[in-house]
Amino acid sequence: MTNNRVRPARVDEAAELTEIAVRATKHDGYDDDTIVRFMPGLKVNLALIAAGLVFVAEGEAGIRQGYVAARPTGIGGLILLEGIFVDPAFWRGGVGSRLFAAVVELSRKMAGSVILINSNPSAVGFYARLGANKIGTTPFVFSPDVKLSMFAFEIPAG
Ligand SMILES: CC(C)(COP(=O)(O)OP(=O)(O)OC[C@H]1O[C@@H](n2cnc3c(N)ncnc32)[C@H](O)[C@@H]1OP(=O)(O)O)[C@@H](O)C(=O)NCCC(=O)NCCS
Repeated sequence: MTNNRVRPARVDEAAELTEIAVRATKHDGYDDDTIVRFMPGLKVNLALIAAGLVFVAEGEAGIRQGYVAARPTGIGGLILLEGIFVDPAFWRGGVGSRLFAAVVELSRKMAGSVILINSNPSAVGFYARLGANKIGTTPFVFSPDVKLSMFAFEIPAG
């Protein structure tokens, strides 16, 4: 049975979501020491789940395929993409795009006009394909040797 859907995350599945983020980051080629440094950025934020700002992509039989988290910045109309991770088994199957669409929808509800993204080097093609524009670079706060590409995604009128 095919049952693809994107739904709000639950606090009781936080550990599984963090494991997806770790698997996705390892699959990008980062070693275990680097993953330990990255962990504060990979661990799903419980407060964001409780606030309804984390969404899970579910596939057949309720299998979790990935998640996305976003939050308002307090700066007018600017929404920050906190993280988007797809289990490597499902890469290039449209899951990331469905999760990003959920954040666009959420952003509209929060009167957002632009989503700010700090992209891992390997995800640059994904955001460019979605229509985001590169606006700069920034060091990754948890591992400054890694340079992230900053993208701005303008939310189209709904
Ligand atoms: C980036 C990520 C979320 C993409 O998820 P996904 O489910 O594979 O994305 P989609 O299948 O929706 O991709 C849509 C399009 O984006 C582009 N794209 C996706 N991944 C890409 C990549 N690694 N390189 C270049 N283009 C890519 C492709 O054009 C793709 O369409 P196509 O497969 O028809 O060619 C996933 O690869 C991931 O979890 N990566 C590791 C964690 C990470 O880097 N997260 C982002 C943190 S900033």
